[in-house]
Formats: sequence, C-alpha cells, structure tokens
Amino acid sequence: MTEYQTILVEQKGRVGLITLNRPEALNALNNQLMREVVAAATGFDRDPSIGALVITGSEKAFAAGADIKEMQGNAFPQVYLDDWLGPWDELGRLRKPVVAAVAGFALGGGCELAMLCDILIAADTAKFGQPEIKLGVIPGIGGSQRLTRAVGKAKAMDLCLTGRMMGAEEAERAGLVSRIVPAADLLTEALATAETVAAMSAPAAVMMKESVNRVFETTLAEGVRFERRLFHALFATADQKEGMAAFAEKRKPSFENR
Ligand code: CAA
Repeated sequence: MTEYQTILVEQKGRVGLITLNRPEALNALNNQLMREVVAAATGFDRDPSIGALVITGSEKAFAAGADIKEMQGNAFPQVYLDDWLGPWDELGRLRKPVVAAVAGFALGGGCELAMLCDILIAADTAKFGQPEIKLGVIPGIGGSQRLTRAVGKAKAMDLCLTGRMMGAEEAERAGLVSRIVPAADLLTEALATAETVAAMSAPAAVMMKESVNRVFETTLAEGVRFERRLFHALFATADQKEGMAAFAEKRKPSFENR
C-alpha cells in the first residue's frame, strides 16, 4: 500500500479504514493530509475488494479543523486560483458508502469532513462545531451548506454565528448524527456497520447512496423518478434474484456483485 505521513490506511475485510493521524495538531487538516485522505479514499472507491469505507480520528479529536497555522499566511487571489480546499469535493463524489466514526473534537473542517460521509456514528465524547467565525472567516468545505441541510436554519445559524460546540446528544437530536455509542466501542461499531453495508449487493448499495443524495440536488418529483429508474434497473441484477429467492427460501442471501 502507498506510504502516507498524515493518515493510517488499512483494509479490514471488505472495509477500507482511514485513520487521521496528526496527534500533535489534533488531526488538523493541512494540505498534505487533504491530499492523502483524497488519494486513499478514491483508491478504496476504485478497489473492487472494498465495499465501504470508514474515516476516523483519535480518541481526543476526529479533526480540529483546517490547519490554522498553515493557512494563516494564505492570500487572495492565490487561494482562489489554486482552488484551495477544492480537492475535498472529491469525497462527496465517492460512490461507495462512507462511515464517519467521530470521537472528541469535530470542528470546522473536521465537522465538514464528517458531513461529507454518509453515516455519522458519534462517540458520547464527540463535540461538533463550525468555529470559523471566531477566526474571522467562514467554513470553506461546505459547512454552512451541509450543516444547514442536516440540522435546519435555526441551529445552523446558532452554531455558525456563535462558533459554539454541540455535544453528541444535541447533534443526534438535531439530526446530524446517525447514532451515539460509548467511546470505547466506536471503531468496532463503525467497522461492523461498514461491513454490514459492504456485504450488501454492491449495485444496490451504490444506487441507494446515489438516490438518497439526490434529495439534496433536485425536486421531489424528479427525485422519485430518479429512484424509480434505479429501482427498475436493479431487476437486471443477479443479486435481486438471489436476494428475493433467499427470502422465499428462508435463508441468508449470498450476493455475487461485489
Ligand atoms: N490548526 C492547527 N493546529 C491546531 C488546530 C488547528 N485547527 N487545532 C489544534 N491545534 C494544535 C494546537 O495549536 C496545539 O498545538 P501546540 O501544542 O503546538 O500548541 C495542539 O493542536 C493541541 O491543541 P490545544 O492545546 O489547543 O488543545 P485544547 O484541548 O486546549 O483545545 C481545541 C482543543 C478547543 C480543539 C482547540 O485546539 C481549538 O480551538 N482548535 C481550533 C479549532 C478551530 O478553530 N477550528 C476551525 C479551523 S478553520 C476551518 O476549519 C476552516 C474551514 O472550514 C476549512
């Protein structure tokens, strides 16, 4: 596997695991880490032996945001011409489902990275926030957009304008978090969830993700139409035959399209 300096990358069964690993900076997202996460994630996305991904950090921090010390000297128009932070958008284009396993701080770019994932599992220690305003800027990896879609305008405005943090329970109540688990069980639960998804029919899982994400891009009528086209297409797969035969025969399905 490729050598990385800021992340650890492992394959666990059919799951690709990426662990952010800059403990000295609470996993702050510098440019090298961005390049490495994008390279590892897109590599897993192309790998047919992988069915789902997990992105995690440390016990203390999922990620404390973009690297403030690295970016403090940045200047316009260079950041604009370089499309600085643009590579993070690649994560939003991954086709395979991605689980974020969040313990500790998920602030600024860290919260945005978690929101780029599909299933967000939080440890009871997780703390989310978009504190960019306290630095004289605003989020730059989609925070104002994805947070508002996830929790609604009232809470998004509260969090983004004050820069306050919210704990795991508030985040789950608000709809940002899929579920909360004890910190000690976080990685096990995230890997088990990803393995469950990876064992599904691959075309169904990829279409499922595509269909849910369509909600954020289109009208209800178009979205339902899009879903129905994909639903019909799945009747061309052997996995549909296997999944339904297994139900009728009272056994577990064994999907081939992995
Ligand atoms: N960038 C660079 N370094 C960071 C960092 C960041 N975002 N967050 C923490 N660190 C570094 C600290 O500077 C410190 O390094 P030193 O030991 O060399 O001084 C080390 O990590 C440990 O941090 P603290 O001593 O501050 O730890 P703490 O437990 O006292 O506080 C914290 C934790 C509340 C998360 C605090 O570190 C903090 O407020 N961090 C910044 C959070 C932030 O503002 N994030 C938004 C960044 S902007 C952004 O993300 C823009 C965007 O949308 C892309």
